[in-house]
Amino acid sequence: MNLAELNKVAEAMVAPGKGILAADESSGTIKKRFDAIGVESTDESRRDYREMLFRASEGMKNISGVILYDETIWQKAKDGTPLVEIIKKAGSLPGIKVDEGTKPLPGCPGELVTIGLDKLADRLPKYYEQGARFAKWRGVIDIGPHGLPSYTCIKANAHALARYAALCQVAQIVPIVEPEVLMDGEHSKHSLVRSFEVHEWTLKHVFEELSNADVRFEEMVLKPSMVIPGQKSGQKAGAREIADATVTVLMRWVPAAVAGIAFLSGGQGNEEATLNLNEINRVARERKAPWPLTFSYGRALQQPAIGAWRGDDANVKAAQAALAQRAKMNGLAALGEYSPELEKQPALVRA
Ligand code: 13P
Repeated sequence: MNLAELNKVAEAMVAPGKGILAADESSGTIKKRFDAIGVESTDESRRDYREMLFRASEGMKNISGVILYDETIWQKAKDGTPLVEIIKKAGSLPGIKVDEGTKPLPGCPGELVTIGLDKLADRLPKYYEQGARFAKWRGVIDIGPHGLPSYTCIKANAHALARYAALCQVAQIVPIVEPEVLMDGEHSKHSLVRSFEVHEWTLKHVFEELSNADVRFEEMVLKPSMVIPGQKSGQKAGAREIADATVTVLMRWVPAAVAGIAFLSGGQGNEEATLNLNEINRVARERKAPWPLTFSYGRALQQPAIGAWRGDDANVKAAQAALAQRAKMNGLAALGEYSPELEKQPALVRA
């Protein structure tokens, strides 16, 4: 293991004013996104869409790394250039989602555990050879009725995240450790306080397991959810409240040595995710939080771009401009320098 190299990658992923583009939707998820814009999901349409994103040179200026799905890391652009090369040429790092999705957790009705550890040690060197310098594994924790999540669910997912992270570091790949506490679950009692409690419980176990597995914190990136009331709870919280709760829970449970924190958007609105990240950075600065805090957004970066694209080559420029806008706004939010008025400045809306 070359720790200096690993550390350099981890720090580049969370460089000031930059964040990660999560473009690793599974075939099922990307089909849903394409269905919504009336585009058939084929190898070629998925390739065209992602090629459009990675060639968005303005947008890519604020993107430190791109998380790819297995299919994409092997794909070539229309002109035969490997997509990985396009990402590198844009000054960004290719990354790879390595989990194989979720399965029901035995004995825990309604709960899931992430799978994919069995052959991971064999798969990682192939991804490294193909250009991946970081990886992602997502564990899902749902806040539900009757006290859910269960201890079993938190423990099983935390353990899998730690096994994955240790395997990545041995393979010279920086792990993104993603324990997602869902914010779009069905439960009506999913308040800000309940979200805080579940984040606290989850992060405590995740870092205990990471430590037991000898994962080096300096060479990993944490990808958490924000502490937010459930979208179906009927409750709302302001950006300041969300930022206060999120920074508090992170400062309590995340070691200062962790290279950086890159949030998922988890179903927040595009501008809402930007505003919350900005406020988190302001609170973090006041409290002297030790890590950079940035974005690793999927939906909150891509939604306007996919809406503008609609599968038509004629819309590529407009779609790339839409990605640039979100990448720039989130780049500013990662510095605590965003304000909603900036959304309207025409100079920022160019491709
Ligand atoms: P969202 O930002 O859409 O939540 O996606 C990020 C991600 O990578 C989830 O695993």
